[in-house]
Amino acid sequence: MPCTTLDEDLTLALVSAAAAAPSLHNVQPWYFRASAPDRTIHVHAAPGRLLPRSDPDARAVHLSVGAALCNLAAAAVRLGREPVVRLLPEPSRPGLLASVRLAGRPRSGLLRRPDLHRAVWRRRSSRLPFEPEPVPEPVLSELRDAVRLDGAELRRPGPFARTRLLELTARAEQRLAQDPARRAETLACLTGPGADWGLPRYAVGPLDSTGRLPLRGFAVPPDGPARDRCAFEADPQLLLLTTRYDGPAAWLHAGLALQHALLLLTLHGVRASMLHQALEWPDLRARMSGLCRDRCVPQMLLRVGYGPAGFPTPRRAAAELLGLPAPLDRPAATVG
Ligand SMILES: Cc1cc2nc3c(=O)[nH]c(=O)nc-3n(C[C@H](O)[C@H](O)[C@H](O)COP(=O)(O)O)c2cc1C
Repeated sequence: MPCTTLDEDLTLALVSAAAAAPSLHNVQPWYFRASAPDRTIHVHAAPGRLLPRSDPDARAVHLSVGAALCNLAAAAVRLGREPVVRLLPEPSRPGLLASVRLAGRPRSGLLRRPDLHRAVWRRRSSRLPFEPEPVPEPVLSELRDAVRLDGAELRRPGPFARTRLLELTARAEQRLAQDPARRAETLACLTGPGADWGLPRYAVGPLDSTGRLPLRGFAVPPDGPARDRCAFEADPQLLLLTTRYDGPAAWLHAGLALQHALLLLTLHGVRASMLHQALEWPDLRARMSGLCRDRCVPQMLLRVGYGPAGFPTPRRAAAELLGLPAPLDRPAATVG
């Protein structure tokens, strides 16, 4: 039966799903406010969780919030409500990135797979080596159709473009390693056990011993803890997520599309990790767009394949994200 009101349990379940989304260095740059009379959840950028050096325009914040919106919408469909998403609903309040009104019975199943919610809690970034086995074309085709619904494109670069994309990513890594202020900002996001945000060191994974795959080094200083090294796939399967335009609305669309693709990959048993480094430098990002035949604005580079699951990362509690007092005796709200 469809729910009729936006009560606290429903709100917590929806916000928990939203907060399971990926974010740059797992900073979780969002908070939520619910308006029960309007049956609406407002999604805000969290001012204290911005990364001014790595993400000066807050592009990654918008991508992350877009991904959270996709999870929220998938959970709403699961709970019998149609999510009506408005991006940037009040131009005078740029920090209010979206509102989601819960309308009648879900119709999104016509546009999105109704079982998308099953992947919300199973999806994780996997920064581990993948098998050489290719992701089948029908899966990629489903992904391409899906991201188009969200206003983005998913491209499979050919051998030349793959090499160039990895070179640009490696160059971004080198720059990051030589920039003390950015290194300090990234390092501050690496956490020990117990923190409910940031990227735990155990989740960072090994580096590629062959040097072909420029995985993020997370700016660990030379005298920091040594990273394990092992051989990754020789020819990584890459997907480039692009939009036609740039700016806050396009970034939110890209985030919705990113998470739509990641959830579908998860349903198909395909792992993914992100190679975002080159996108954080305007000149390198411009060179990425030069690799497309038509007009394209790169938003995310994905590595996909079959392999082990990634490590779990922490999340802030939904009650805290909603500004509610922490529940003492309430079981964690989830949408299965
Ligand atoms: C905009 C954005 C950029 C990201 N960039 C990278 C990256 O360059 N390298 C990486 O390993 N993970 C990257 N991630 C993945 C996050 O580190 C990851 O989502 C976060 O730690 C939470 O972990 P999970 O994806 O397993 O839930 C990025 C995620 C987002 C949304």
